[in-house]
Amino acid sequence: MSLETNTPIARMPIAVLGAGAIGKMHIERIAQHPEVSLAGIADPSSAARDLADSLCVPWYADPLALLNETNAKAVIVATPNVTHTPIGLACIARGLPVLVEKPISDTLANARLLSDAAQTAGVPLMVGHQRRHNPILRRARELLQAGLLGTPVSAVVMATWLKPDEYFDMAWRRQIGGGPVMINMIHDIDAMRFLLGEVVSVQAQTSHLVRGFEVEDTASALLRFANGALCTLNTSDAAVAPWNWDLAAGEAAHYPKQEVDSMFISGTEASLTIPQLRIYRYAGQRGWHQTLTEERTPLHRADPYVAQLSHLRAVAEGRAMPVCSGPDGLRTLEVTLAVHEAARTGMTVQLSHG
Ligand SMILES: NC(=O)c1ccc[n+]([C@@H]2O[C@H](COP(=O)([O-])OP(=O)(O)OC[C@H]3O[C@@H](n4cnc5c(N)ncnc54)[C@H](O)[C@@H]3O)[C@@H](O)[C@H]2O)c1
Repeated sequence: MSLETNTPIARMPIAVLGAGAIGKMHIERIAQHPEVSLAGIADPSSAARDLADSLCVPWYADPLALLNETNAKAVIVATPNVTHTPIGLACIARGLPVLVEKPISDTLANARLLSDAAQTAGVPLMVGHQRRHNPILRRARELLQAGLLGTPVSAVVMATWLKPDEYFDMAWRRQIGGGPVMINMIHDIDAMRFLLGEVVSVQAQTSHLVRGFEVEDTASALLRFANGALCTLNTSDAAVAPWNWDLAAGEAAHYPKQEVDSMFISGTEASLTIPQLRIYRYAGQRGWHQTLTEERTPLHRADPYVAQLSHLRAVAEGRAMPVCSGPDGLRTLEVTLAVHEAARTGMTVQLSHG
């Protein structure tokens, strides 16, 4: 979503709180973006202080000091999950529109607190499920909403790939909550909610037999959507495999792109693969003895993090509603936590909002 104007516009100053892996990605894109500028960085690490120095922007160890002292007109919260609610609340209390990284928070109660506070205060809150800004996923959604697939009945989502051994040097990545369900599957769940609507129940199994850590290395979940569609999500970070959105969609340069699909949606009229956007359907007579046609829809690639920044500005200026709102982030977290609960109890988890 870009600004439709030919006259030069002042860049909107945006602060980044937390300058770790994802915070640095936001900072790099802000530096290149014509619509926004970097108001400052808050992160107690010396690496963050050095980064702020190199970019000639104010640095603060404490996010509250930054919020009080800089001219930021919007904020990106890219700190650890447990801090999302207190830091997000501090932004909302100051009337500052906020993009909080995924997951919206560490628990459902804290997620609700944050989402409700934003709604009550009338301050925009966005959640960083950036795939919603990817033109490929948006095109898939248009095709579904236009009825191309008829009624969606079945979806298969793959997220199998190999995380290197050193990834697990940090203790939290070996513990419950630091695994592929909360780190990776949550994105697939949000993408499927974006495409297919609300999830009403969840079944799941997890396994940690490859690495033997407390955290899962492999998980499979079965989601039932309100429209009756069923979706299986298969995730493993211990597999030598390319079927993963990050490898297939080519969103970030540090993941070498693979020419494969990772999502397969079947409907009563046609089926669709994503991200390649292949459509399979019958030209005439229908049935399993007939030959299916295969079409490719033209692809439009763009960096979703850059589009998300334009969107943050548009939301902050009241020109757009969040593509991923607080309630969206809350529901995606609810489904993701239900995967863990279903795996732990062996029971089907029914979701209240369905
Ligand atoms: N959208 C995505 O695809 C994506 C990808 C990775 C991470 N994330 C999310 O982003 C968040 C950060 O993850 P990460 O991988 O960048 O972690 P990280 O550990 O690499 O970075 C976190 C940074 O926050 C700083 N920090 C900690 N407490 C702070 C505080 N109170 N105030 C300011 N700074 C503080 C740390 O010093 C560190 O530099 C997490 O919520 C994570 O789930 C999202």
